[in-house]
Amino acid sequence: MKIQAINGFKDILPETAIRWRYIEECARNTFERFGMREIRLPILEKTELFVRSIGEATDVVEKEMYTFVDKGLTMRPEATASIMRAFIEHGLHVQRPVQRLFTIGPMFRHERPQKGRLRQFHQLDAEIIGAVEPQIDAELIAMGQMLLDTLGIQTSLEINSLGCPVCRPPFKEQLVNYLEKVSDSLCDDCRRRTHTNPLRVLDCKQKGCKAVVADAPSLLDCLCPDCEQHFLDVRQALDGLEISYSINRFMVRGLDYYTRTTFEFLTTDLGAQAAVGAGGRYDGLIEQLGGPKLPGIGFAMGLERIALLMEQLQEKELPVEQMDIFIAALGQEPLTTCAKLTHALRLQGIKAAIDYSGRSLKAQLKQASRVNARYTLIVGDDELAKQQAILRNMASQEQNPFDLSGSSAQQSERLRSLLKETTDPA
Ligand code: HAM
Repeated sequence: MKIQAINGFKDILPETAIRWRYIEECARNTFERFGMREIRLPILEKTELFVRSIGEATDVVEKEMYTFVDKGLTMRPEATASIMRAFIEHGLHVQRPVQRLFTIGPMFRHERPQKGRLRQFHQLDAEIIGAVEPQIDAELIAMGQMLLDTLGIQTSLEINSLGCPVCRPPFKEQLVNYLEKVSDSLCDDCRRRTHTNPLRVLDCKQKGCKAVVADAPSLLDCLCPDCEQHFLDVRQALDGLEISYSINRFMVRGLDYYTRTTFEFLTTDLGAQAAVGAGGRYDGLIEQLGGPKLPGIGFAMGLERIALLMEQLQEKELPVEQMDIFIAALGQEPLTTCAKLTHALRLQGIKAAIDYSGRSLKAQLKQASRVNARYTLIVGDDELAKQQAILRNMASQEQNPFDLSGSSAQQSERLRSLLKETTDPA
């Protein structure tokens, strides 16, 4: 019986991997412009880290974690908690009072797989730790927007404020009172959530709950003066950077660590999976995990969702795999010379392919097209005797003689400068 990959766990085949690499390069390039430095973290962490940061009454912790129960370990469902754990463990704030960190890698959540929703998925995650100013919120959001713009992906940006430990508890009380009054119209999940995690009711997708929520009290009307000022300043800073957004007073996010600003980059092109990226402030998280009292803000974007959206963008030129040259050796002796030449080319940084099977020229030219070679160098017994190979431009089909004299290093050097001339005519 054939063994297949697990449901929700996908192979990233070479044609897709090259696009992912492009997305990752754009992300690294954009993030580094904002002074972000890469951090790489383990995939497995103590379960308690996620319970304490994401929150016990969240869907992620309640239903979606891949946990080794006997070992007390969990495959990370997101990166923020791990970054904070590493930040505290290595005292990174001592090095630099404001740390700007990013990481790219796989995350694991046991959700129902569908288009754009996987059980192993990948995030581009960026965090700024140690800065409380509202301009930082705007700068981070602008960085996310810049990356999406660079990739040619259209999203709408929604923002909200979730307040702080001063204004949230009285709001929660007010919300619970309201929800209890309308509990008959709520779905079973929301009736339970009313007492475990009432804010999540605001985010329920069920029709009945949505109708009830439309009249629910809004946290935005209950913010304490500090949170209200912060939200106002964030909006002004976003306006200053000419970032368009709308306010979604029902956005609550699925993770408990958020305070104040939250935001989501949304698309209508991925069916039910609307969020391409999302994040927010978590000013109490580091202290809650036993670290110093420092604020933080960050976001994560889903690599699969970005890649899907880019595939749908026909006009966007995506990178394709290409070889610089294919070496077609026809006969035993040419093969010996060509193997050495191919190795010399690779030593000089040229992407070179060769076929050792001794197939016909026609078959080898077909192979050259399949690997998307820009040129093919044809070397048969005659060419070897005359020390003159044929260099074929695969796009124009134009053929020119190529001097085969000298050592393989000399041949390679001549070929390399010729290839460089045609790529870079200046
Ligand atoms: P999140 O909203 O849970 O936030 O996930 C962020 C992004 O990861 C989503 O917008 C989506 O693009 C992608 N994503 C999430 N789950 C899946 C899935 N099952 N399949 C495919 N893509 C998925 C966080 O994870 C926070 N840690 C973000 C953050 C960073 N907040 C502050 N700093």
